[in-house]
Amino acid sequence: MKKLTVAIDGPAGAGKSTVAQLAAKELGYTYIDTGAMYRAVAWKTLQQGKPVTDDLINEVVKDIDIVLDYKEGKTKVFVDGTEVTAAIRTPEVTGIVSQVAALGPVRERLTDIQRQMGAQGAVIMDGRDIATNVLPNADVKIFLTASIEERADRRFKEMKAKGYDVDVEQLKQEIAARDKADSEREISPLVQAEDAELLDTSNMSIDEVVEAIIQRCR
Ligand code: DC
Repeated sequence: MKKLTVAIDGPAGAGKSTVAQLAAKELGYTYIDTGAMYRAVAWKTLQQGKPVTDDLINEVVKDIDIVLDYKEGKTKVFVDGTEVTAAIRTPEVTGIVSQVAALGPVRERLTDIQRQMGAQGAVIMDGRDIATNVLPNADVKIFLTASIEERADRRFKEMKAKGYDVDVEQLKQEIAARDKADSEREISPLVQAEDAELLDTSNMSIDEVVEAIIQRCR
């Protein structure tokens, strides 16, 4: 079977990484979480212990070493040799990641790395601009979404399970704000590619979404 390149884009909390990791496992493909790479830059910026400015972020991205180690349905993330898999999911990182992702030098460097990672095929890559910009020739393009209520609810359960004391209404507002920032930025905004298929997962189980992705690959 041909080794496909699969692009999955969509707004925050649509479940992209959950289903993409499982679909990759089933297909024997590699999974690349590009959001984790933007989060890695945000994490390293916060580690500097200085006020977060565009200049500081652009300095940090210059020589950052990001490794995504995907094995058996799970991704470990390393920055300059340190594992940051959990550290990049904190509210602090989430709070500045849209600022990080709007910067030209950040997008240029990460897009280069992502294209190299995707060059060999047999890959599922998820993010915001994969079908439109990173891999415009992807064989399968899916735009995954769900209602804002459903996405906030899923994020709420995820954060609760990690021990965070979160409020669902506040999460909803944060997700909406991040979607707005990601959709309205100048460079590679979040938008459904013309040739991408829309998949609304509001009323679908994880298994159903994984199956829908695999079906499209077959
Ligand atoms: O999918 P996520 O929540 O982990 O992504 C974190 C942020 O990174 C998100 O707010 C938008 C940005 N992002 C992006 O701009 N382009 C991508 N390809 C992936 C993520």
